Formats: sequence, structure tokens, C-alpha cells
Amino acid sequence: MAISQIISLFLLHLLLPLASISLSQSSHQLICEVGTGNGGSIGGTSPLPASLSKLLIKGGTVVNAHRQERADVYVEDGIIVAVKPNIKVGDEVTVLDATGRYVMPGGIDPHTHLDAEFMGTVAVDDFFSGQAAALAGGTTMHIDFVHPVNGSLMSGFEAYEKKASKSCMDYGFHMVIRHWDESVSKEMEIMVKEKGINSFKFFMAYKGTFMVDDAVLLRGMKRCKSLGALAMVHAENGDAVFEGQKRMIERGITGPEGHALSRPPMLEAEATGRAIRLASFVNTPLYVVHVMSIDAMEEIAKARKTGQKVIGEPVVSGLVLDDSKLWDPDFITAAKYVMSPPIRESGHNKALQAALSTGVLQLVGTDHCTFNSSQKAFGIDDFRKIPNGVNGIEERMHLVWDTMVESGQISVTDFVRITSTECARIFNIYPRKGAILVGSDADIIIFNPNSSFEINPRSHHSRTNTNVYEGRKGKGKVEVTISRGRIVWKDDELKVAPGSGKYIPMPPFGFLFDGIEKIDAKLVSSFKAPVHRFKSDV
Ligand code: URP
Ligand code: ZN
Ligand code: ZN
Repeated sequence: MAISQIISLFLLHLLLPLASISLSQSSHQLICEVGTGNGGSIGGTSPLPASLSKLLIKGGTVVNAHRQERADVYVEDGIIVAVKPNIKVGDEVTVLDATGRYVMPGGIDPHTHLDAEFMGTVAVDDFFSGQAAALAGGTTMHIDFVHPVNGSLMSGFEAYEKKASKSCMDYGFHMVIRHWDESVSKEMEIMVKEKGINSFKFFMAYKGTFMVDDAVLLRGMKRCKSLGALAMVHAENGDAVFEGQKRMIERGITGPEGHALSRPPMLEAEATGRAIRLASFVNTPLYVVHVMSIDAMEEIAKARKTGQKVIGEPVVSGLVLDDSKLWDPDFITAAKYVMSPPIRESGHNKALQAALSTGVLQLVGTDHCTFNSSQKAFGIDDFRKIPNGVNGIEERMHLVWDTMVESGQISVTDFVRITSTECARIFNIYPRKGAILVGSDADIIIFNPNSSFEINPRSHHSRTNTNVYEGRKGKGKVEVTISRGRIVWKDDELKVAPGSGKYIPMPPFGFLFDGIEKIDAKLVSSFKAPVHRFKSDV
């Protein structure tokens, strides 16, 4: 986004009468109210203080990825300005009591598809409803995938700028590469140098639409390396998936279980291993999105053992669900679990959790891409037509806490690392995001470990009419969410304003690129080539 556009968004937010929106947890209805225009918001059943430019969070345990401490947090104009015990303030400051609570960086979801055009339809959560849901669940930033429009990255970027203009929390973009030519190569440079994109995604599946072949993947990886941008892959062998789907249909398996059977873990492992080897050949870092199987995870583990820079992102569905529901006799129940790679049979989830707790996998996404039952029904006679995708943007923080921290697999500091800090580091926006430090953006949650949550599609904030986590209960609850200094979630009530979210440009050459050129130099010097030959007499 151009600076001028960022400024005009900001001015718009400050100067125009603010349409503040209250979403009560007991209702799906959006209630639009006209605000005061002073940066605060009014309305809802329990009005919040009008001025939130100064905020003190008192008496909590502040948790960063590197340590936890008893401290107060003082915020001015959306930025953290002090983190220390016993901060004293005047009456003009809004005070939040966090006694007995953890005060943590808001979650960052590295993998979402809001307002995405996919499989002949459009995901139901847009940049407002998806983000509102995120904030209710303690996530304060996400990174979404921009698709090119008519082959142009710039047109795609502009289309997503429009989609995101209704944002109510901060966001960044990855860019998808779907074909290769000189103009794509040039536009990649523009995206990195002028538009704040530092990652490009390559789909190795979805033959006939998004899928790229190895030649495009290789060229793309080389270009990513030269620009200091991270190459990301959806790793499944798309040709083999195509063949697997045909086999299922020929055998009369047309229901959602055919989705899982047509794309087994070996196809995910093959593509993961292939992408890893190509990245090693190019000597550039690689990020594998939605790692769903032991098989793919083991490819990543093997590569990391050799020192290769490979990041593995499990998603919450892969960590906490299994494939059993795909065999449900009710089509709609089964179809809501269709995503790619598929949710695997029980055992993969536990292994992915273990990999996350031991550092083999590094951060948790959601792949939030929601479709209503009516959209899922497009595939009633053929699983290949069921739009792929599940929810998770609202549920991720609670489910990761309950599954990983409550079970004793990880510490509270690890929780912050895998839900927030590591994402900020990988995409080179740390410590602006992902930390509670002086100078960081005030994206903060107050989390009560002694409270509890329950997931219900009738009370969630996503627009979708189903929820793959329906009925799940657990310990821990995000009681307050603060987005750049504004209290947006408190007392189970959302106060969010469209247009208040900011685009966060992400600079290239993050830490994963450190030392790359030394490895290149070492490789070249090991060649013992070219050999300077003398011409022998023949
Ligand atoms: O099923 C999924 N994962 N839908 C979203 C698109 C993708 O592959 O990430
Ligand atoms: Zn994918
Ligand atoms: Zn995805």
C-alpha cells in the first residue's frame, strides 16, 4: 500500500464520524453505531471509555517468548511505552486489572484466506468478519494470501488493498505465484521493494488452477533468494492427487471420505521432500504451510537436522482434529472437514503436537478459509467440487493453549513463541509485533488460565454457519484483546471499526537469510572447478 494510502486510511479513521460496530457474543448481528470520531467508540451494552489513547494494564504476568515477569504495561497512542512493576498513572488513564492473568502479545496468524475466490466460490469471511472473529479469539494480526489478477501481481495487490480496506486489525500479505514470465519476475521485485511483501507462495497441488510445475518453482525460488523473500509451498503432488481423485470416482467413492483417500500422506511427503531438495539446491530458505502428516513433518525434521533452513507450519485443524468425521453419514457434517492437505487419521495430530513442542515445527497457523454448508453442498455428488477449507482464526489461541499448555507439552513462553513471536520473526516484523516490549505495537491479550471456553457456531463471530471445532470445551480464556492500544474485546463484546486496521509492510532479508551467501561461497569453493586443462597431443 502506498504511503499516501496508508495516511489517507489513517486520516479517514481519525476525521470521519466513526462507524463503530458492536458484535455481541450471543448474536450474529452486526450493530452499526455512529461513534464520536475521537478515536474511541460508543455503543454496545457496556460502554467502554471513550479515550483509549492511554492505557495501563496492571498486576498481571507479562509473557514474552524469552521470559515471563510480574509487571505493569503502559500504553500511549497504540505503542507500549513502559513495562515494569508498579507504574503510577493519573486519572486520565484507562486502567485494566490483570491480577491472576497472563498479559501476552496478541496472536499472529501466518495463514488465512479472507474474501478468497476459490473453487468457483468466495470464502464467506471477509477482512471485516474474519478479523472480528480473530480479535474475539485473541489474534491481532494475520497474513493473507494475495492472488494475481489476470496474471498481474500488481492488479492482485490492488484488488486485495480494496478487500482489506474494511479491516479492523493489522494485516500483511503473502503473494501467490501461479505462472512464470519476465513480468512476474519484475513484479516480484516491485512487491518486495515497494509493497511490503516478503514471501511468495507456490502451490504444488490444485492441478489446472493454482498448481505450478518444478520449473516455475525453481525459477521462483531463485528469484525469492535474490530478493530476500521467503519461498512458501503448499506441498502435495498435484498430478498424483489428480490421479488419486480419478481412482476414487471410478470406484464409486464420491463422498467426502474420497477426498482423504485420494490424497494420502505419501503425496504430501513427496512434495514436501521435493520442495526441500529444490530449496537446498537453490540454497534459499523454505516455509512449508499446513504440515498435516507425520510423513511431511519427518521430511522437514530430516532437512533441519542437516542444517537446512526449513520452517514447518502446522495448522490448528491438523493439531487437534482427526479424519473420522469425513466418514460421517451426513454429507454436510462430513463436507465441513474437507480441506487440503486432508485432516489425517488419529496419530498424526499427536505427532505434530510433539514436533511443535520440540522445535521441529515452529509456529501455528489456521488456513482459515470458510464456506457455508450451501457452498460445501456444491460437491454433494462429487467430493472434488467441495470447496476446500475450514475455520480457525477465532479458535486457534484457545485450542493451542488447551492442547499444548494445559497438557503440559509446552510452557507459557513457548505458547507466545508459537502463536505470535516466531511468526513476527520469520516475516521480519519483530519486535514491532510479537512482543510486549517498549516500542512494540500495543497488540495485547489478557488471558485468564482459570477460566474456560466452549466453541459453538451459534455464538462464534465468523460468518460461516458451521464450525469444525463445535462442542470443544477447554481451559483458558482471552478476556481482553487490545489492538494497537484500543480495547476491542472485553466482557464478551466486540468493539471494532472497519478501516481501523493497518497494512503492515514486511521488509525482506529476515534472519533466515543470514549466512546464505557464506554457504554459497563455501559451495563454490568446494567445486574445485573449472579445471584448467592443458591440451594433450592427440
Ligand atoms: O483446504 C484449504 N487448505 N483451503 C485453502 C487453500 C489452501 O490450500 O491453502
Ligand atoms: Zn494450501
Ligand atoms: Zn491456505
